[in-house]
Amino acid sequence: MTVLDRVVTMRAATGHDLAAVNDLHRRCTTRTLCRRYHAGRDRLSAAEWGRMVDPALGHTLLITDPAADDVLIGFANVMRTTRDGTAEVSLLLHDEWQGVGIGRAVARQLVLFARREGFTTVVAWAEPDNRRALGLLRGIGARPDAVEPDEVRWTLPVGPR
Ligand SMILES: CC(C)(COP(=O)(O)OP(=O)(O)OC[C@H]1O[C@@H](n2cnc3c(N)ncnc32)[C@H](O)[C@@H]1OP(=O)(O)O)[C@@H](O)C(=O)NCCC(=O)NCCS
Repeated sequence: MTVLDRVVTMRAATGHDLAAVNDLHRRCTTRTLCRRYHAGRDRLSAAEWGRMVDPALGHTLLITDPAADDVLIGFANVMRTTRDGTAEVSLLLHDEWQGVGIGRAVARQLVLFARREGFTTVVAWAEPDNRRALGLLRGIGARPDAVEPDEVRWTLPVGPR
């Protein structure tokens, strides 16, 4: 995908990518990590990463620096939920890569990916004051449909199986 004339690539994550993902976490601000996890986190455990790359549970995609293929600028999850046909998507971009349209481009790819994987609905959770995430979700057509104390669930139908 091309954003601002830069080619940003996405690839499927594997169990071997945990070190690179945790290096990305180390380079992110606490604020960004809190936005993603809705709690203070600075790394993923091997067990958590194992679940994220287990195809029975969902898929994780890595977003790489156009100038250095082995450096991550973000990652995204499309994980099964207990609701049939529904995937939960999450996205984290490194601070320096936020606000220039990469999230929007990635989100569109995630919707296509979820549809290809046979999901009919995607949901995402965001804090109510996360204006950038809210702008992104609204922009791809998602709508808020459930409110928890600190986060709101956004839902987007992605088509028939
Ligand atoms: C949320 C996140 C994925 C958005 O990606 P991004 O690349 O920064 O966002 P984009 O530049 O693509 O902008 C997305 C939309 O929000 C809008 N937007 C950007 N900054 C905004 C701001 N400060 N206030 C309101 N809207 C804003 C953009 O105009 C765009 O809307 P459009 O598609 O209608 O033009 C990214 O900022 C991020 O990883 N943040 C930290 C983790 C997080 O919050 N994850 C979400 C919960 S899982």
